[in-house]
Amino acid sequence: MRPWPWPWPWIGACAGAALCACGGPQRALSPAGPGAAALLDLATLFVVATVLPAAVVIGIIAYLLLRRAASPPGQPGRQEDAIILWIGGGLTAALILALLLSSLRAGTRASAPPGEAALTVEVIGHQFWWEVRYPDHSIVTANEIHVPAGAPVHLRLSSADVIHSFWVPELHGKVDMIPGRVHHLVVRADRPGAYRGQCAEFCGIQHALMALWVIADEGDAFASWLGAMQRQPEPPAGDLARRGQQVFMQAHCHTCHAVRGSFPEGATGAVGPDLTHLARRRMIGAATLPLNRDVLRRWIHDPDRYKPGIRMPASPLSEADMDALIAYLETLR
Ligand code: CUA
Repeated sequence: MRPWPWPWPWIGACAGAALCACGGPQRALSPAGPGAAALLDLATLFVVATVLPAAVVIGIIAYLLLRRAASPPGQPGRQEDAIILWIGGGLTAALILALLLSSLRAGTRASAPPGEAALTVEVIGHQFWWEVRYPDHSIVTANEIHVPAGAPVHLRLSSADVIHSFWVPELHGKVDMIPGRVHHLVVRADRPGAYRGQCAEFCGIQHALMALWVIADEGDAFASWLGAMQRQPEPPAGDLARRGQQVFMQAHCHTCHAVRGSFPEGATGAVGPDLTHLARRRMIGAATLPLNRDVLRRWIHDPDRYKPGIRMPASPLSEADMDALIAYLETLR
């Protein structure tokens, strides 16, 4: 029989998996809201309440086995050993029951709304991006959810195609988005900042690149974002941007993307993200790439290179048309 492989690779793999939530932009171990805090408390309790007793139980079993091995063969087991095992079994059962009750309590605590929500945001999962709507403010955007820091926000979660799952670890646990149903979640970001989220249900080839950001703004910053998003972008000024608007129509971008305001006949596509305020976003491709001129150019030229399986086709535009299109998209603020 081959010997077991040296344990360090296994120990390293397990430690890596356990520690990968400690840093980076998407951390389950630094809660920024009451829902995530309740879940972290429960996870900490589970770790402490299982690792310590497991060490004690393993120690007792090892002690009994060693003592048994040292006693003469044929000698019957001591009655105290049986009693110790029964006590160990009873304590284990009590521990499991206590963890079950803690789990139920944490579930109740995490799902309790952290106050009355004054703002409602609809989040709709698509393959493979997030549509974001503010129904009381006539705002439609994608992949970035701005919320006021410190205030409860009501999220209405649904899906346009397959099952997705909304998960922003620093704010709350995951909530599935199931076609034909609306799930509700009230979150509160207690400190301003940007919190990365991720689709947490396998939904197709681009599942791993279906991310989003929740940006918790301080009072004035949120009010000014809301105001800017409610205004329609200015019509493109300058020949290059105006030419880019024509390219947008000629290349049929408008059949998939909506841009409110700047077209007499309207670009009302609903297959891909609404681009009305594209230039205000930080990322494109469902938080896959930072938004800048160079990235936008490469993305439009061949999006499949960055998100294989994406429904957006490549656009083989000339250099001049691409320059114009980018200039137009940069006016969408
Ligand atoms: Cu959407 Cu996974």
